[in-house]
Amino acid sequence: MAILEVPAQDFASWRTAARKLIRQGATPLEVHWLDGTSDAAQGLLAGLEAAPPEDDASKATTTTKVPREFLSLAETVSCFRDPQRWNLLYELLWRLSHGEPHLLDDPADPLVRKLRVMEKAVRRDAHKMHAFVRFREAADGAMVAFHKPDHHIVRREADFFVRRFGAMNWAILTPDECAYWDQKQLRFGPGLPRESAPSEDEVEDLWLTYYGSIFNPARANLTAMTAEMPVKHWSTLPESKLINGLLRTAGDRMYEMIRKQPSSAASFVPSDTTSLKVLQQAACNCQGCELYEHATQTVFGEGLRKARLMLVGEQPGDQEDQQGAPFVGPAGKVLNEALEAAGIDRADAYVTNAVKHFRFEERGKRRIHKKPDGRHISACKPWLEAEIALIKPKVIVCLGATAAQSLVGRDVRIMQDRGKWMDSLHAPNLMVTVHPSALLRLPPGMSYEEEFTKFVRDLRLATEEVNAPLSNA
Ligand code: URA
Ligand code: SF4
Repeated sequence: MAILEVPAQDFASWRTAARKLIRQGATPLEVHWLDGTSDAAQGLLAGLEAAPPEDDASKATTTTKVPREFLSLAETVSCFRDPQRWNLLYELLWRLSHGEPHLLDDPADPLVRKLRVMEKAVRRDAHKMHAFVRFREAADGAMVAFHKPDHHIVRREADFFVRRFGAMNWAILTPDECAYWDQKQLRFGPGLPRESAPSEDEVEDLWLTYYGSIFNPARANLTAMTAEMPVKHWSTLPESKLINGLLRTAGDRMYEMIRKQPSSAASFVPSDTTSLKVLQQAACNCQGCELYEHATQTVFGEGLRKARLMLVGEQPGDQEDQQGAPFVGPAGKVLNEALEAAGIDRADAYVTNAVKHFRFEERGKRRIHKKPDGRHISACKPWLEAEIALIKPKVIVCLGATAAQSLVGRDVRIMQDRGKWMDSLHAPNLMVTVHPSALLRLPPGMSYEEEFTKFVRDLRLATEEVNAPLSNA
């Protein structure tokens, strides 16, 4: 059996080649992937003509159908620092397209398990990069940071820094690859050693003062600090010089004061956008509360910008978390049926949640839904407010207590207040009703049909209001 040696430089080149190979029926045993960074691969790559990847990709989608989840997994795993990753991904792609389309649902499969571990490691590395990259001013006024990621994540994460620090020129230098932003264009160049970044500079003192003033006392817990911030990052953090001083002087009062600072999505929400897409993209990188750490992805709202009806749920569930869209699981099924019964086309509504990440507890292999706390609801509210500000719905329906808590306040009583119009600054018409998942766990003695009918009645009121001629109110 001849072994094909195929170079993969990055995810896009791997994907193009992998799709072609799958179509040609090349089994994983017949293909050996060469990592783009190895000499052998560089040689092969140099001899390759640049293929038109778009054309190839569009042809391939019709023949190699893979779950969307595969693409996100593969894209993340492609950053893992191990040349084997391409082979493992190809094996997965092969099995998915050869009789095991639901393989990703089997977390016990050794290949899936391995890839999930790799995925998690890359995500963690990305979060660390977001947290620990520190810019220093270089001689030409540009801000320069040196960072040493564990994995090949510079390209994957560069957009995050463009969004965060779009209004300055900066460079992030890493031993693998460097990213440069000039406020217009993002470029990448070869890796550079540590010495390329300025270590001492005129603004160092300013930075130190700044970090002193925002010093997070959570970090003053030394054990937590060393666990969270690997020692290798310490040397690049100007505030590490300050830490000793702060540890000595940080009194309980300051601890308390800073500890109570609410975390929030606010600093992640682009303030000047008129595009839902931009909003949604920015939400992908939100770290406004800790829920992003364990969930698969941000589940943003879905629907047209011109929608006049907005439905607000609680938070994504297990299915939503995996698929990246709101209300696609069991509660979504009830919602769809009720909308249909109320004569509402779901495509005419904008459907979203009060909290954009799935909160759960792990029990064995299962992930059990856990209600978001008040702090998650407030942390995430800037996203919901931004969605409302862009869509300006005529009618908002809060599905259940969490949405009601976010948009109306703590003391709404769903059962008493459902189906009534409430005064709100968020929309001309706002009502609360039950959450569709409540219909799936009715206490004994309550009838599904009756509760479903009441739910439909509330939704019908909402659509009547949507379609009512403008009142003079
Ligand atoms: N429950 C919700 O509140 N939202 C979803 O998206 C799914 C279930
Ligand atoms: Fe950000 Fe909301 Fe996710 Fe928390 S739940 S990380 S605030 S998007």
